[in-house]
Amino acid sequence: MADGTTPDRRLATRAFGKLNLCLILGPLREDGYHELVSAVLPLDLADTVTIEASTGDSDQVVCPGVEGDNLASKAIASWRSLSGWDGAPVRVTIKKRIPVAAGMGGGSADAAAALRLVAAFSGREDDALLTEIAPTLGADVPPLLHGGPTLVRGTGTEVLQLPTPQTAGYLILPSNAGLSTPVVFRQAGEMGLRRSQADLDLISESLQAAAKDEGWGFPPELLGVNDLGPAAAVLEPSVSEALSEAREAGADQAFVTGSGPTVIGYFHGNEGPMRAAAAAEALGGRVPGAIACTASPRSATIEEVQ
Ligand code: C5P
Repeated sequence: MADGTTPDRRLATRAFGKLNLCLILGPLREDGYHELVSAVLPLDLADTVTIEASTGDSDQVVCPGVEGDNLASKAIASWRSLSGWDGAPVRVTIKKRIPVAAGMGGGSADAAAALRLVAAFSGREDDALLTEIAPTLGADVPPLLHGGPTLVRGTGTEVLQLPTPQTAGYLILPSNAGLSTPVVFRQAGEMGLRRSQADLDLISESLQAAAKDEGWGFPPELLGVNDLGPAAAVLEPSVSEALSEAREAGADQAFVTGSGPTVIGYFHGNEGPMRAAAAAEALGGRVPGAIACTASPRSATIEEVQ
């Protein structure tokens, strides 16, 4: 077709959720965002996102179980307006596995996947344009666009690819409650948890110095440091319980990911994935949704599906 699409095509990819191995909060800027430094690790816990021609008059995003506006719609609209693509309406379907409003970047991962899919569907893969659009969708979208671990700086827009850190297992303890990201950031500010830019620069340098090769050791003094964690725990009391559950289940470290309320149990070393899986199974009955994950492969491919 003249617009570069093939009408019966259906494309799919996986949108990996993430955890923050550390999240260091810096000064509040005039635009309401905070400077931060974070090591973001995509996980093998993924939503499935597909794109196909829509039978309706406009682009559609269908995401069973998730109400309200979807960031994937904004991704498609931005792609249309900035690439100039005016192909027939598309339908994007998101099958959720990543907990929602949990600090695991699920909505951002879906938006990043929708962006890559609509670019492929329109036959105009343009990585530079995808990289330009990603930060306009949300702070967690740039680190989830290409897959693999990243060091994130600025307000989340400066993204540096990192080699994969040493093997570990991650126990994920989701909460029934969702937390609003802006509310958690505000709470952290009120609790005096912001650090100076000089502190952030030092931490960023020490992470870069450690992350030289595949299998690098995460600096122990930074592992699991999340300045938003205490704020999430004040706003959502189940966070403290989940931290205790993770430690009692044998985790070497327990910490909040992103703005919470999901809690991560970190299980160090080659036996970590096995220990995390055993802990998830043991907790399964008591903590609904407890699962074990490892780091995801570097990037998800886009595939033709029936
Ligand atoms: O960019 P995103 O929409 O994910 O951010 C949600 C909210 O989180 C922002 O409106 C802001 O209140 C807060 N935030 C922040 N500093 C950042 C990222 C997010 O204060 N670097």
